[in-house]
Amino acid sequence: MQIRTHIGVSLDGIMGTPDGIPAWDAMPTFVSGKSHGYAEFLAQCEAIVIGRTLFDFAHSYWTDQGIWAWEGYRVYVLTSQPLPPNLHPDVIASEGDAAGLVRQLHAANLTRDVQVLGGARTIRAFLELDAIDELGMVVLPVILGDGTPLFLPGSLARTDLQLVHQRAFPDGAVELVYTRAIAAEPERRRSPDNHCRRSQASLPHAPRARTVHLKVTARAWHAFCCHFRQCGNAKLAETRADSG
Ligand SMILES: NC(=O)c1ccc[n+]([C@@H]2O[C@H](COP(=O)([O-])OP(=O)(O)OC[C@H]3O[C@@H](n4cnc5c(N)ncnc54)[C@H](OP(=O)(O)O)[C@@H]3O)[C@@H](O)[C@H]2O)c1
Repeated sequence: MQIRTHIGVSLDGIMGTPDGIPAWDAMPTFVSGKSHGYAEFLAQCEAIVIGRTLFDFAHSYWTDQGIWAWEGYRVYVLTSQPLPPNLHPDVIASEGDAAGLVRQLHAANLTRDVQVLGGARTIRAFLELDAIDELGMVVLPVILGDGTPLFLPGSLARTDLQLVHQRAFPDGAVELVYTRAIAAEPERRRSPDNHCRRSQASLPHAPRARTVHLKVTARAWHAFCCHFRQCGNAKLAETRADSG
């Protein structure tokens, strides 16, 4: 089991627009669940890690409209708050912070890989723990200028990486997949427990901030539904998101 990412990021390092739309959606060539190598990536995974912000969108669509984007996958939610009742049966809450979640994943006897999908704060929490085995990203040929950055200045220790895969797509997007550089690995490996306090201190994830974010990103969940092949009727979701 490997913990991996497949992040769509603009050339200026943005994961999502200020209103929560994933950077992927800037690409007219983006096809939900299929383009930019995502179908083959997801086929290698058994579980998805999502942050509470992303989960709250998923859950409200699941309860209100019966739309669940990750059918067939275990979905681990990084959260410090209790999850609501009537969950989708595949949802599992983190035990503690990101470090606890990393331990859960390693103890889960997964035979295939785990995608840390996002959002940005969730990916950063895993990066801070050095818990990403394979850091994959698709650099999109667009400068978004504003939004949620993948990396924040000063949030990470130096990490030496080695490029294990690269390819360019016809639209100019470039996939880059890195693992830890072998020579640097012994120094880089760190206990999740050592990083737990640092993650909590440095990452802003107050519930109030999440609530505000939820209000402004109704369209974002539609984008995520379209992002995954299980979405079904994307047109219907769009109509519902717009009317909601
Ligand atoms: N381009 C892409 O590939 C991609 C993919 C996914 C998302 N996105 C973008 O990412 C953005 C949403 O991301 P987000 O950062 O706002 O939300 P998020 O990562 O989905 O969720 C953050 C929440 O996770 C919980 N959490 C618990 N422990 C944490 C820890 N140690 N560190 C961080 N979070 C912790 C917190 O909720 P509690 O208060 O419950 O603890 C926090 O509010 C959107 O703009 C979306 O478009 C982009």
